[in-house]
Amino acid sequence: MADVMPPNMLNDRPRTPAGLLSNAEKDRLIERGFLGLYRWYTARSQETRNWNPDRSFDWRAMNKDLPPELITVIQGFFAVEQYAPDFTSNLIHLVRRSHGRSHFQMRWGSEEEKHADAWENAVLFSGQRSPQWIAEYKDRLKSQTWELPFPDAIHNLVYTVFQERATQLNYLNMMKIAQGKSDKPHLRGVTDPVLAKVAQTIAVDEAAHYNFFLEGVRMYLYYYPERTLNAIRNVIGQFSMPAATLVPNWEHFYETVYRAGIYGPRDFQRDVMQVAFRNMGIESRKALEEGIRKTREVPDFDGGNFKTTAIWDTFDYGAVEGDVRRLHVKIQDYEKEIGFDLYDPTEFIENPEKPASTQAADD
Ligand SMILES: [Fe+2]
Ligand SMILES: [Fe+2]
Repeated sequence: MADVMPPNMLNDRPRTPAGLLSNAEKDRLIERGFLGLYRWYTARSQETRNWNPDRSFDWRAMNKDLPPELITVIQGFFAVEQYAPDFTSNLIHLVRRSHGRSHFQMRWGSEEEKHADAWENAVLFSGQRSPQWIAEYKDRLKSQTWELPFPDAIHNLVYTVFQERATQLNYLNMMKIAQGKSDKPHLRGVTDPVLAKVAQTIAVDEAAHYNFFLEGVRMYLYYYPERTLNAIRNVIGQFSMPAATLVPNWEHFYETVYRAGIYGPRDFQRDVMQVAFRNMGIESRKALEEGIRKTREVPDFDGGNFKTTAIWDTFDYGAVEGDVRRLHVKIQDYEKEIGFDLYDPTEFIENPEKPASTQAADD
């Protein structure tokens, strides 16, 4: 089982060339970034998104005549979110050695748990599923366990970026339908302000999750570009929504979601993959594939910590560096607000690996 920290391989690994960061140092910097981001995130979550699945919505006022297609979708959203304990426990175990990441996963889990309860309330208050039906459905769902889609931390981190964005998009499109904005004949004229508010509230959480994991991937991209680009390539090659193999009648759910104009392969390409790529400095899937292929064509010298130049042309490294710098400024501002800076401030350390023209001039 891969861990967030690499195993101690210092003995059989060539020494880090002078002037470059060792893997241990890179891991330390990434961990500090995660820890600072997690502290900032928690404070912000409590200040701005401290809603409650029962009290924050006027459940009695929910539309009792929603079309059956929408009930199928809401029920599917509930089914996926109710695996929150599985998602959380698996991910915590995977990153347990990282304070920033494992504690974050608990906070994240507490937010996903609210999503499950809010969607379950929506199923109940739609008036179209009995409490007995819901109890049996839950039993059926709980008889299965969600497992990690990938064995190691970096792939799961990358997967979560795409998954959170896709989930956010699903909920935003549900919100639009509930606001009466659907152009599909079978959903035209449907309105439900309660459902719209539920979908919007949860979508805001998903956006926050997306951002946290995105910041994490950027740090990995910055310090471990080749490994991270490979993980991104692998994840998009086999992306599917969580629990797709566990939820009964998934095909029917997926088809209903697609027909409602909520989510489908084109939405994934355009509104998930392309958006996440842009946020990670990657131009396109083609550019990513080609960059990785070129990297492999050039022989690595001595198995050292060097990376061939091809990897730096695969994506916009400067943009990623700018994002990682901005993340650190955000963390530093937060630490100053609390007083952490008096003891042990989080610092941004440049990765000197990229062959930069200014660096040559300095020598
Ligand atoms: Fe969620
Ligand atoms: Fe989420």
